[in-house]
Amino acid sequence: PQRIFSGIQPSGGLTLGNYLGALKRFVEKQDEGIETIYCLVDLHAITVWQDPERLRQQTREAAAAFIAAGIDPDRSILFNQSQVTGHAELAWIFNCVARIGWMYRMTQFKDKTAGKNAENSSLGLLAYPSLMAADILLYKATHVPVGEDQKQHLELARDIAAKFNHDYGRTFFPITEPVIEGAGTRVMSLTDGTKKMSKSDPSDNSRINLTDDADAIAKKIRRAKTDSEPLPESAEGLKDRPDARNLINIYAGLSGLSVDQVVTEFAGAQFGTFKPKLADLAVAKLSPITTEMNRLMKDPAEIDRILGKGADRADAIARPVIDETKDIVGMIRSR
Ligand code: TYM
Repeated sequence: PQRIFSGIQPSGGLTLGNYLGALKRFVEKQDEGIETIYCLVDLHAITVWQDPERLRQQTREAAAAFIAAGIDPDRSILFNQSQVTGHAELAWIFNCVARIGWMYRMTQFKDKTAGKNAENSSLGLLAYPSLMAADILLYKATHVPVGEDQKQHLELARDIAAKFNHDYGRTFFPITEPVIEGAGTRVMSLTDGTKKMSKSDPSDNSRINLTDDADAIAKKIRRAKTDSEPLPESAEGLKDRPDARNLINIYAGLSGLSVDQVVTEFAGAQFGTFKPKLADLAVAKLSPITTEMNRLMKDPAEIDRILGKGADRADAIARPVIDETKDIVGMIRSR
């Protein structure tokens, strides 16, 4: 049977990219009746400096976003990473299996250190993908839904599992399948269709945040960069039009229609016609989530209780795996 694991960093508010590329699909997997484990990866977040009180707040806010979007903490396991110590324990063992060169090759590491002195970034930032492999393999997850940008990290998780299995001469960890499907797996910036929509972009107009109100959403879509051509008659016509393609993709992701269906619906339309429709759709889909998030955030103790309960359930799965891993590696367990 399938077991799904995925994670989101609570380092800043969630964006429409996180929603379409991850959260919305997490809910779909849960509703298909598959076993689903979702993690707010606070240990990953601190690979770059986080203000402690903000980190706590953002972790709660991310948990509220999950629940508001439809994650049911009884059906899915929802928790923050640092409460299950197996993540850090397995990550250390993987740090000794993985090679430094593998880490230097990660495009995300290169991007995050671009223009800076990489020698001065945290050691954790370099080892980031090793912790990510630990997240997944601690539960022997079979499938990991993510956005396009995490593909290389998941390939590395497969390499680490394979090397561990090889080094210790047994098939212990599964070779996990990335699940990158649908129109929302690569949502681009609203101000530059060639750049990923990201919570770290300095321009707030480049993204839609799950905390934006209806006015802000409508305004950002109205201002989104486009070219001056009408929308094409077929999806082929989006090829060299990154901004138009992005808005069509977002419409498809939010509506659940295919890109072809959206293109057919708006064939030949001007952006002046299409953008208000997109704004209405975005507000209709996102506003109820924002409202529910705000309601949940009024009771932080309840959110902490849900995360604690989730962590207990996660730990019950993780403990035997970390114990067996230690046995395989040759560590004494006598307490
Ligand atoms: P993070 O926090 O950057 O993003 C969380 C999820 O959102 C997706 N995503 C996007 N999808 C489409 N378009 C975008 N513009 C966009 N921006 C972000 C990401 O692909 C991701 O699925 N390393 C991970 C967190 C992580 C993890 C894991 C994921 C830690 N351990 C284990 C899976 C399994 C990260 O930084 O995601």
